[in-house]
Amino acid sequence: MSAQIIDGKQIALDVRAGVAEKVAALKAKGITPCLAVVLVGENPASVSYVTGKRKALAEAGMADRSEVLPENTSEEELLSLIDKLNKDDSVHGILVQLPLPKHINEDKVIMAISPEKDVDGFHPVNVGNLVIGKKAFLPCTPHGIIVLLERMGIETSGKHAVVIGRSNIVGKPVSLLLARKETNCTVTICHTGTKNMAEITRQAEILIAASGHPHTVTADMVKDGAVIIDVGVNRIPDSTKKSGFRLIGDCDFDELKEKASYITPVPGGVGPMTIAMLMYNTLEAAENKANA
Ligand code: GUN
Repeated sequence: MSAQIIDGKQIALDVRAGVAEKVAALKAKGITPCLAVVLVGENPASVSYVTGKRKALAEAGMADRSEVLPENTSEEELLSLIDKLNKDDSVHGILVQLPLPKHINEDKVIMAISPEKDVDGFHPVNVGNLVIGKKAFLPCTPHGIIVLLERMGIETSGKHAVVIGRSNIVGKPVSLLLARKETNCTVTICHTGTKNMAEITRQAEILIAASGHPHTVTADMVKDGAVIIDVGVNRIPDSTKKSGFRLIGDCDFDELKEKASYITPVPGGVGPMTIAMLMYNTLEAAENKANA
């Protein structure tokens, strides 16, 4: 069996086109959705993600109030910028790119963002509302994974989904979304404390790999016909590339594609969906404010 490759790039473009249409409608009423992406320092992966987010904002016709701060910015200065953005009625969404420099407490920063502007869905109010099934900003990568499954017409109800990773950004929230009534999966979470991981992943009808390490999932660890969603973005040295590196996921794609029914590539799978769902959340933040 050779897997169908899930074209996240195309699906993300479709989502973004839908968002752009609604942005145009909102602008006709005099409201321009606006996002502030805050980057502290020069982490190369973060710089690249932020560039992608800002490009998508422009393409969706949204306003961009992004700020780039130096690495030595103090926690106090960052909190003061967030306070200013919280109070600014023309700003609908605030995203602080993670990770932050070590001298800044990430939890404190996330908690400082007004929940109504927390388009990342990282604030405890949004996390709590997601857990209890109330309206919340859904975190972008997990939401993007659910949209990929939906748009590919992949049946999820009653399926055993195995998630590798328990991070606040991906593993935990995607597990909750998969277990919601709408998606209706039976969910197992594997993590660094899991002893018999291959035994568990071989039961997966849907396998979400978000360990953050290359070669986490090898061909012997998956069931024939499984759906593989690879969230990993790992930079590995490659002297044939101008940048000196290339991106690989957490899964051994070439072997897995011969066993899986569907698989996401890296790059071009989950990554573009993160940005698309960020545009979706920013539009939602502006719509919420317009309807308030
Ligand atoms: N760093 C890696 N992924 C994300 C994300 O989705 N949002 C933010 N703010 N930082 C990240």
